[in-house]
Amino acid sequence: MARTFAHKTITDLAEYAPCPVINGLTDLSHPCQVMTDYFTAWEKFGDLKGRKLAYIGDGNNMAHSLMFGAPKVGMDIAVATPGGYAPDPYIVAQAQNDAAAAGTKVIVTTSIEEAVRDADVVETDVWASMGQEDEAEKRRNDFAGWIVDDRVMAMAKEKSIFMHCLPAHRGEEVATSVIDSARSVIYDEAENRLHVQKAILYVLMKDRKKH
Ligand code: NVA
Repeated sequence: MARTFAHKTITDLAEYAPCPVINGLTDLSHPCQVMTDYFTAWEKFGDLKGRKLAYIGDGNNMAHSLMFGAPKVGMDIAVATPGGYAPDPYIVAQAQNDAAAAGTKVIVTTSIEEAVRDADVVETDVWASMGQEDEAEKRRNDFAGWIVDDRVMAMAKEKSIFMHCLPAHRGEEVATSVIDSARSVIYDEAENRLHVQKAILYVLMKDRKKH
């Protein structure tokens, strides 16, 4: 398992390694976190088919993996980003193909309202990811107002839950009143990281022959 910055590092590892390689986070995707997030949503709601996840914020690794994951669990996903921070169009196109095959929707918008309307799960992430520390100040300006606060949560379904991959910046991408509310499942989500990582190892190792 490797946590890298450049996605190519992980694909190079996978190309040359004689064993499975797990993507522990790259600048393009964060599949281990997202498997945990959908697992956590399943724990809360049961069957996820027909439900909707709204992701608000940067069109980053989390947005990408959430888009890949949603059709696999039968959920619609809407990703709302400020202009200039949209997810990678290549990833969007691939996710939309998967969604068409699964009969679900992948929506990309600049409207928080559109994304959050009727959402069962509302998720956000930091404005500046690891490796983007130099851009933090510019991003603080560009993302001003892009906060998941009570007003945003009020637009989602009444029984919707809030998720964040952590670490979070209270008062930036999420209000304290939301991340510390009863609708926030961040601690279950964080605990589930451990259990889902064990499941990933199990799936990858169970059929491997001893050398
Ligand atoms: N987008 C964040 C996720 C952290 C778990 C980052 O890459 O830093």
